[in-house]
Amino acid sequence: MEAQEGEKVEQYEKIKARYNEGANAADFLFLTRTAYGGVMRFRKSDGYMSTPCGAHKPIHFGTFGRRVDEWSKRVSGTEFFHREYAESLDQARDGDVVYCDPPYNHSQAILYGAQGFDHDHLFRCIEAAKKRGVFVALSLDSSKKSGAKDCEYRFPKNLFAREIAVNCGRSMLKRFQMGGQTLEGEIVTDRLMLTH
Ligand SMILES: C[S@@+](CC[C@H](N)C(=O)[O-])C[C@H]1O[C@@H](n2cnc3c(N)ncnc32)[C@H](O)[C@@H]1O
Repeated sequence: MEAQEGEKVEQYEKIKARYNEGANAADFLFLTRTAYGGVMRFRKSDGYMSTPCGAHKPIHFGTFGRRVDEWSKRVSGTEFFHREYAESLDQARDGDVVYCDPPYNHSQAILYGAQGFDHDHLFRCIEAAKKRGVFVALSLDSSKKSGAKDCEYRFPKNLFAREIAVNCGRSMLKRFQMGGQTLEGEIVTDRLMLTH
């Protein structure tokens, strides 16, 4: 078992090094399935992918292949854009629906914190879109059963008309961090904020 674990990390580091030498789709895909928490973290200075190997057993390539085939059917006809959220929100028009899933303040600071995400700016963009008749749904972290932290956000007045509590089950990150123990006390509740 230990030998396998050792080999896993060694192979992972080899593929990561190859990817960092020259970005390519196959290695990228492998790394997304194998990296710690499935998180692809790139160094700001030079774009180096720096995530260590995950503690989990990566998905079997056969199962992954079937999922890719299924998703390929589901997203056929969908157009994807890689861009700033502000640009996407800006293009939304009366009657459009926008779902925002930004980096969370607390639980994901370690993942996305380096990006210095400004939630207040996002709220202002949502406010402008709402004024044009766009329906916006936004998910945010709210509470954790253990280690309760203050996850308060400063929403512009009357921006959101409704708030729905969504039970997200056990925290994925915590599960990795605590070596796969069952985490009865780590139920995560998110908030779904709706402008209408
Ligand atoms: C909570 S994750 C979204 C996860 C996604 N909904 C999913 O299911 O895979 C937050 C995402 O916001 C992205 N992000 C951070 N800053 C952004 C920006 N300024 N504009 C657009 N996306 C941004 C991050 O790269 C990250 O992928």
